Amino acid sequence: MLAVRYSVGPKYLAPPAPTATQWQQAAHLALRAPDHGGLHPFRFVIVDDEQRPALSELFAQDAIRRGHTAGEVDKARARAFNGPGLAALVGRVREGVVDVPVHEQWLCIGAALMNFLNALHLMGFGAKALSGASVSDPTIRTAFCADGETLVSWVVAGRPMRAAHPKRVDAVSRLIDHWPPR
Ligand SMILES: Cc1cc2nc3c(=O)[nH]c(=O)nc-3n(C[C@H](O)[C@H](O)[C@H](O)COP(=O)(O)O)c2cc1C
Repeated sequence: MLAVRYSVGPKYLAPPAPTATQWQQAAHLALRAPDHGGLHPFRFVIVDDEQRPALSELFAQDAIRRGHTAGEVDKARARAFNGPGLAALVGRVREGVVDVPVHEQWLCIGAALMNFLNALHLMGFGAKALSGASVSDPTIRTAFCADGETLVSWVVAGRPMRAAHPKRVDAVSRLIDHWPPR
């Protein structure tokens, strides 16, 4: 079942969005990520429908700051309405934690995202992680993150309008070696 989880972009997602309970179930599964030291270096922020216009304005302001054309600003504004359901993944990586280097915390965040996407897939939703330029805009970051946090990615989710498909052929045999090399 999980071997056929593929990302579904916002163009191919229709309502309904996950309910509050379903988002919570997905976040619960994210907690199954391997988490050395139990640091919980991630959290999810749901953007409800009534907040989309405010997010849209932030996206537009970001595009203006980047010197984009009026057409591109309009596209940025529209992007905030992408996906029937929208969540942000926020990372909280701490330097100097004994025995838990930063790369292990990032691995935990990645695993949490994977479990979040897998949970949505198992509930019948299509979903996709999307970052794009908006996650690095200081104003947008401040709107979602506290000090020391990183706006990692958006996650769009909804009912898939077409069968999800692989983007490339799996090359599993190249993933596993034996030591020492034969
Ligand atoms: C943190 C993160 C951010 C991503 N941002 C983008 C993005 O902005 N645009 C994009 O096309 N894919 C992005 N991707 C990749 C897609 O989510 C997806 O994994 C990729 O298209 C491969 O599809 P698959 O999941 O079906 O294998 C991102 C992935 C991650 C983990």
